[in-house]
Amino acid sequence: MKQQCLTNEEIDSLENNAKTIDDKYRLKYHLMPPVGWLNDPNGLCYYKGQYHIFYQYAPEDPTGGRKYWGHYTTKDFVHFIKEKTALFPNHRYDSRGAYSGAAIVVDDKMHVFYTGNVKHIGDYDYITDGREHNTMYSYSDDGVHFKGKMCLLTNVDYPQEMTRHVRDPYVIKKDDFFYLFLGARSKENIGVILVYQSSNLHDWKYLKTICSDEPFGYMWECPSYVELDQKQILICSPQGVESQKYKYQNLYQSGYFIIDGDFRENYTLSTFFELDYGWDFYAPQVVQSNDERKILIAWMGMPDVVYTNPTVEKGWQHALCLPREISWKNDKVYQYPIAETKQLREHKHVFTLEKNKEITLEDIVFEMHLDKLAKKSFDIKLRQDFELHYHNQIVHITMKESGCLRDTREFLVESIEDITIFSDTSSIEIFINKGEYTFTTRIYDVLQAKIESTIDIPVTYYKLRNYEIKN
Ligand code: FRU
Repeated sequence: MKQQCLTNEEIDSLENNAKTIDDKYRLKYHLMPPVGWLNDPNGLCYYKGQYHIFYQYAPEDPTGGRKYWGHYTTKDFVHFIKEKTALFPNHRYDSRGAYSGAAIVVDDKMHVFYTGNVKHIGDYDYITDGREHNTMYSYSDDGVHFKGKMCLLTNVDYPQEMTRHVRDPYVIKKDDFFYLFLGARSKENIGVILVYQSSNLHDWKYLKTICSDEPFGYMWECPSYVELDQKQILICSPQGVESQKYKYQNLYQSGYFIIDGDFRENYTLSTFFELDYGWDFYAPQVVQSNDERKILIAWMGMPDVVYTNPTVEKGWQHALCLPREISWKNDKVYQYPIAETKQLREHKHVFTLEKNKEITLEDIVFEMHLDKLAKKSFDIKLRQDFELHYHNQIVHITMKESGCLRDTREFLVESIEDITIFSDTSSIEIFINKGEYTFTTRIYDVLQAKIESTIDIPVTYYKLRNYEIKN
């Protein structure tokens, strides 16, 4: 890694010379880093007629390193522009990474808040961890160029019960004030969210700490907040939660609490609900569309998990999941690919998948609806070695070679009516009961589009076209 932060020209040159282009696992309708590493979606917003999708970007190294904010824009979620890198770790207060954060549009400007990561050399305990986490600010009046970078809060300003792990600002406006949520780890090793209040986006006053009745993990990363049908939903990604047989099976979790009451005053937090049961789903962030839908985008990956992702050899790793509209139904958050995704549909085939008869689909890049599954048990084999079994209210998923060491996963679903599967070259996203449960994973197989089932299933299949991405 270069000592100094890269310039846009140096990033251009890394991107232009990237070998990623001929990798068979490059995705066709998901956003990826042009080269190097991607993690959390950041700064999602609708500004001056288009959506802005920033992401944690380490162009120098497909296994991570110093983070910048990469940037895509789109008007329709089918045509995208790859914009120049938006934020650089080039400041005393963010020198080891422009970490995750959020955007808010006020007075025709896009205001971004993010964590400035600074590292010091030496041995440290988990409290200091040799780092500084600063809350940084910058703004743009065209959505592409950022200026006015400054540090708003440092570790000294956060409550003294916190370790140095205080990061990932998310900003909302409610009534007359702005609120900033920060994910944090307390010195007692409890995951919490700090809430700050401001009337002008610059001066922030500490308001309170949101925590669960019982400790739930040691750190809550990447808060996001959304109101669905008057329910206040606090999304975050807790770390350090013990796994149970059918729950919390990833190294780290992503999900939500429902806030009962007013988070600014007296409230209680519900238990935690997982948002996705797959191997690759983390740090989801929500953005409101121009027609008031709530859209969720997550990193299709998981931090600190070591597996032999074969794309690293080709100089890249990771992607964002399909944008999903979220809604409140049957007392939970449902997620389903946004309506714009239908524009990707090319050929449609309607057929019955006959019991125990393997067939080969037109292409591996598809959307597929499996209907009329109600109250049945079944086993479905898909692609090279992906299997989905449903018996006694347990969904059991397995992968063999294609999982690269991620091999089995189980979760509970009371009954399955239908399943929608989005398959891309190296990803699978499954939506059970139109988004009541979701399962997201990367997959690295021989790209054969085979399917077989133990029951007859009415199928609607669409081959999907590629995203169009311009520089
Ligand atoms: C989550 C996370 C954030 C942090 C960012 C750094 O994946 O660890 O907490 O801001 O990634 O890239």
